[in-house]
Amino acid sequence: MDDLRDKYITAIAGAADEAALEDLRVQAVGKKGEVSLKMRELGKMTPEERQVAGPALNALKDEINSALTAKKSALADAALDARLKDEWLDVTLPGRGRGQGTIHPISQVTEEVTAIFADMGFAVAEGPQVESDWYNFDALNIPGHHPARAEMDTFYMARAEGDNRPPHVLRTHTSPVQIRSMQEHGAPLRIICPGRVYRSDYDLTHTPMFHQIEGLALDRDISMANLKWVLEEFCRAFFGLDGIELRFRASHFPFTEPSAEVDIRCSWEGGTLKLGEGDDWLEILGSGMVHPKVLEAGGIDPAEWQGFAFGMGIDRIAMLKYGMPDLRAFFESDLRWLRHFGFSALDTPTLHAGLNR
Ligand code: DAH
Repeated sequence: MDDLRDKYITAIAGAADEAALEDLRVQAVGKKGEVSLKMRELGKMTPEERQVAGPALNALKDEINSALTAKKSALADAALDARLKDEWLDVTLPGRGRGQGTIHPISQVTEEVTAIFADMGFAVAEGPQVESDWYNFDALNIPGHHPARAEMDTFYMARAEGDNRPPHVLRTHTSPVQIRSMQEHGAPLRIICPGRVYRSDYDLTHTPMFHQIEGLALDRDISMANLKWVLEEFCRAFFGLDGIELRFRASHFPFTEPSAEVDIRCSWEGGTLKLGEGDDWLEILGSGMVHPKVLEAGGIDPAEWQGFAFGMGIDRIAMLKYGMPDLRAFFESDLRWLRHFGFSALDTPTLHAGLNR
């Protein structure tokens, strides 16, 4: 029995891997293993012999089993160590800047705008790009006969033949997200809604798909003064200029009353655009106090709540800020353009790090 013990304990200690260990287990304590066969011989022994040999064999079997278990976990530990050493990676090493991909100006500007409004307590809301005509028009106080429907150069989705419901549209603005957010969250509410919008139009400053950002603030006593302050704060932070001057010009939108278009002071002297100086004005957004009918469509009581809204083109303010003259280039995937106007992936816009580089 001592020979058996020496043989297996030594072999187990020297086993190279789990497969070798399993072979040894079968040889020693498997059904036809050496120790098991010895145990079968117990029957042929006298009771006196059995009294000595029985417990000794059981002890040997236990000893071999625990040696197997111990070796198995030692092997697993060693394998893990080897793997950790092999797959070790220094995550603090700087990335290899291969100068290929860049963050698109639209993404960068969306992040910039979001950072500024988040600081003023606005959350980000999103809505579908294929929208029902109710959300895109009716709920925003643009009934079927309203000229604004025609002006928006809407893309209509096809309906199956015989389906006479009004067709869905590719949303022409981000304003429908106002309605969806009111329905979902009620008042008070402070949101911005960035996203893609679609209109059938194409020239230097128009593409059939472009981007808008909508803003909406509802509370019991919100006024035009709040709207003016928020937009001035935003422009100062976004353009990084203290001398920004805005002009609120009376206008008309079906979904706001009163409505104002906002222009920014600029100069075109020498053919280049300079913001914050000069005698020219450049329109940058539409805004106003949310129309009571729009509040009602969103399930909000206009006797209790009021608010302001605004909508601006992300592409447009990106062009202004970074001096990109042709909107169509935004969507042509020209690598040279992307390298020139794109941003580093590590350049995440935050207010504390600064937005302008
Ligand atoms: N939806 C308008 C457009 O696409 C922009 C706009 C104007 C949005 C005034 C507003 C607003 O929320 O109050 O031209």
